[in-house]
Amino acid sequence: MISMNNNYHIFNGWIVNEHQVFKGGLVIRNGLIETVYHGDRSLDDKDLIALDAGHKWILPGVIDDHVHFREPGLTHKGDIASESRAAVAGGITSFMDMPNTLPPTLTQAQLEEKFQLATQKSLANYSFYLGASNSNLDEVLKTDPRRVCGIKIFLGSSTGNMMLDDLQTLRTIFARSPVLIAVHCEDEWTIQKNEAICREVYGEDPPASVHPKIRNHEVCLLSSSFAVRLAREYNTRLHILHLSTAEEAELLDDSSPLEQKRITGEVCVHHLWFSEADYARLGNRIKWNPAVKTESDRIALFEALLQDQIDIVATDHAPHTLEEKNRNYFNSPSGAPFVQHALVAMLEFYHQGKISLEKIVQKMCHNPAILYRIEKRGFICEGYWADVVLVNPDDPWTVDPSNLLYKCGWSPMEGQQFHARITHTFVNGYLVHERGQIYDSMNGQRLTFKR
Ligand code: DOR
Ligand code: ZN
Repeated sequence: MISMNNNYHIFNGWIVNEHQVFKGGLVIRNGLIETVYHGDRSLDDKDLIALDAGHKWILPGVIDDHVHFREPGLTHKGDIASESRAAVAGGITSFMDMPNTLPPTLTQAQLEEKFQLATQKSLANYSFYLGASNSNLDEVLKTDPRRVCGIKIFLGSSTGNMMLDDLQTLRTIFARSPVLIAVHCEDEWTIQKNEAICREVYGEDPPASVHPKIRNHEVCLLSSSFAVRLAREYNTRLHILHLSTAEEAELLDDSSPLEQKRITGEVCVHHLWFSEADYARLGNRIKWNPAVKTESDRIALFEALLQDQIDIVATDHAPHTLEEKNRNYFNSPSGAPFVQHALVAMLEFYHQGKISLEKIVQKMCHNPAILYRIEKRGFICEGYWADVVLVNPDDPWTVDPSNLLYKCGWSPMEGQQFHARITHTFVNGYLVHERGQIYDSMNGQRLTFKR
């Protein structure tokens, strides 16, 4: 179904919003949610396309605060057009993209170039982080908090060699950043030490299962404790990305309401899904930084999410080609694609009775909007942009190379069956995805922030 008209009446659904699930419908007009109602309503309005949700779930579009869409410079792995298509097919209607591209995004001019690219190519709404390095303090301080999601700092090395290790620069950024700082926390010195030990034991060709031994608990905890100490000293607005151990979740603010928290944290779907035992089957395909760790970490992270110690679920979507991933351990880059499968994976946990629908929507839609102060998104609310996803709770399908939209053409989830299927995705009121079919009807918009 495709139409120039993008006004809809979606009826007969189960709306999941603000800790409630209720039978109802909504009217989308001129890109915005005009009406949300409970129960049944028949509307005699010729301007509206009537869409029977057929008892499906109606969710706010997911906001993913952590992706690597690889543009510019690394487009053999993915690009904004390809990965934003995969994102909307996965129910993600807004993303925030990381600066470890080629060149890295270290100046305001480079940042604006990315926004320009996205304006031309992105099917989803977008924002981009500015990277902080040892030598771009002046650029960091120029960041406009109303038009840019945040600053990204790598405290340990990962894809792209963007590590910031000059303590004085770090202190100044923590003291003076005009915008939220998102951090990758791994302690470089400890990584190097563990890597040397690993080389002594295994030589140059260790199994992928050494990854959580090299990038272990100590690596993560040392670095995140350091970042939290510094943030407390300067009252910095700090967001810790991809928490992978139970101990780190303890470091975050968990008593105050989300709007007032100064130190928040994210967990990625892969750290909730996989654990150490999976290296035997999947090898480097589940090599991420930080590493997937033990089953007890996985369970504890899940518990910290349910207890609201962890605020957000994101993807860290980081595609690499299979050729790159299939290299031996030391030469295989960390990261894997996830945007197409994050929401259905979380809904699979719902299906298993491990998390409520309301909680999934809170962690993937509401909280990113609240935490980043995104304007008019993240909720099914009158007057908000119509970023809306319809999900059939029981329409099983299996991840297979033939249904992947990632440019890299593979997924660590291949062979996995999901009960839920995302049937429709609306971005700013435009239907951009219907049952795996992508419509290039309209590009997404730049996110704006109420700060
Ligand atoms: O696994 C990862 N992949 N972790 C990162 O920090 C970077 C990312 C990438 O860009 O490949
Ligand atoms: Zn990342």
